[in-house]
Amino acid sequence: MYLEKMLQSQGFGSRKHCQQLIKSGAVSIDQDIMQNPKQKLNLENLVFDVYGKRYQYRENVYIALNKPTGYECSHQATHHFSVFDLFDDVLLNRGLQCVGRLDQDTTGLLLLTDDGQFLQALTHPKKHVDKVYRMQTADPISSEQIEQLKQGVELRNEQGTFAATDVQQLAACELQMTIHQGVYHQVKRMLAAVGNKVEQLHRVQIGALECPELKEGEWIYLTPEQIALARTREAI
Ligand code: URA
Repeated sequence: MYLEKMLQSQGFGSRKHCQQLIKSGAVSIDQDIMQNPKQKLNLENLVFDVYGKRYQYRENVYIALNKPTGYECSHQATHHFSVFDLFDDVLLNRGLQCVGRLDQDTTGLLLLTDDGQFLQALTHPKKHVDKVYRMQTADPISSEQIEQLKQGVELRNEQGTFAATDVQQLAACELQMTIHQGVYHQVKRMLAAVGNKVEQLHRVQIGALECPELKEGEWIYLTPEQIALARTREAI
């Protein structure tokens, strides 16, 4: 691939802008300043510098973010920050999207990608990728409530019933459970349906991928192994 096209594919702007970047001497590989936009490159394990900042060539990006509270999963956030504020323009130019949504006050594992097929595979309602949530509730959780969650509850304006599996009470007001669909506010509505209330919600797992050790607001690129775990539909 030509250098100018490679830079464009990585989010450095239009082909013309990439040509200008190259001609200005801003781009180097292995400490050699690259001034020929039509330089052919081998993309395998390619690393390059733009204005002294190191980048690795990635055909697509797959990111795990530990989402902080107060951030919306929307490009046009209205009342809070946007999760996209946590990423630089080079990544945003690639068309980064959230893989599903978390409420602004929910924390934990949020995946972002520019790979439309990956996004579809994880969010399509028929695919039912499991998600594991941990929550603090307003009232102590009763064994009846746990039983109802396991049996399944009805949610207004949604078809069918919504059941949780692997429901574990961690403290009087702390619960972890796995859900198998992804309708709007599902966990909060399920807890409301059994007569309790979610006070704090944290996503700990998607498919078989557990949230990596990250502080709130921190993110990492997923390895191919982690991507495969996220694609595994069942939580293990
Ligand atoms: N269920 C909810 O109610 N909120 C979320 O953010 C995710 C799942």
